[in-house]
Amino acid sequence: MSPLPLTVHADAEALAGAVAAALAEAIRRGVAAQGEAWLALAGGSTPFAAYRRLAAMDLPWSRVHLVASDERWVPAGHERRNERALAEAFAAAFGVRLHPLAPADADPAAFAPGHAATLATAEASLAPLHPRAFDAVLLGMGSDAHFASLFPKVTPPAALDAGDRRPVVALVPDPLPPEAPYPRVSLTLSRLVATHALLLMISGEAKRAALEWARTRPASEAPIHALLAAAPDLAIHWSP
Ligand code: 6PG
Repeated sequence: MSPLPLTVHADAEALAGAVAAALAEAIRRGVAAQGEAWLALAGGSTPFAAYRRLAAMDLPWSRVHLVASDERWVPAGHERRNERALAEAFAAAFGVRLHPLAPADADPAAFAPGHAATLATAEASLAPLHPRAFDAVLLGMGSDAHFASLFPKVTPPAALDAGDRRPVVALVPDPLPPEAPYPRVSLTLSRLVATHALLLMISGEAKRAALEWARTRPASEAPIHALLAAAPDLAIHWSP
């Protein structure tokens, strides 16, 4: 198997700087081409240094739309809600528009993955710009090879099918990840790869090894395999 096409950065600071620069370029490109830019951004923890750098840049923020790549099914303002973390990271980006993927009153105890209303907020928040391609999508990856909230074993195959047209999916990770043990709503593979720039940001040897491992496993077991297969232009940024 050919080596993974990783862009290797010396440390976390260089990684954050490179990702922020790539996202800034995507925003400028989107605004120049269409008057507005829209980006889907991973939650978790790794990308937030890049987001804070990006937010400090002089960009036409009132023309920028952001949506999380996935959301934890917890209410607005919850400390584990990606929307809240993004709002804090982009506090300096005056005028930026952040679209919620989950309703403000999302209640983990009342989560209903099969219920149409579960996806209504996500679909409504994408509606103004869907199906226009994103200008950039930035993803992270868990050590179990999930990306966005497309987790091993529980993700419906259609959500990992680049030819499927549904933009969002709801699911309950199994096991629940200890850092955010909540049901999820997520953009699907097909919605995530509809973008001008697609970036994966990971750090540490364990994540690099997990990505290598995922190449040898089916997508049902290692969801990121489906992303690698569907997106030959994926830009993988890594630092130790
Ligand atoms: C989330 C994410 C998720 C994340 C990975 C990696 O909401 O949890 O969007 O896909 O990117 O779990 O998370 P870390 O960057 O914290 O390792």
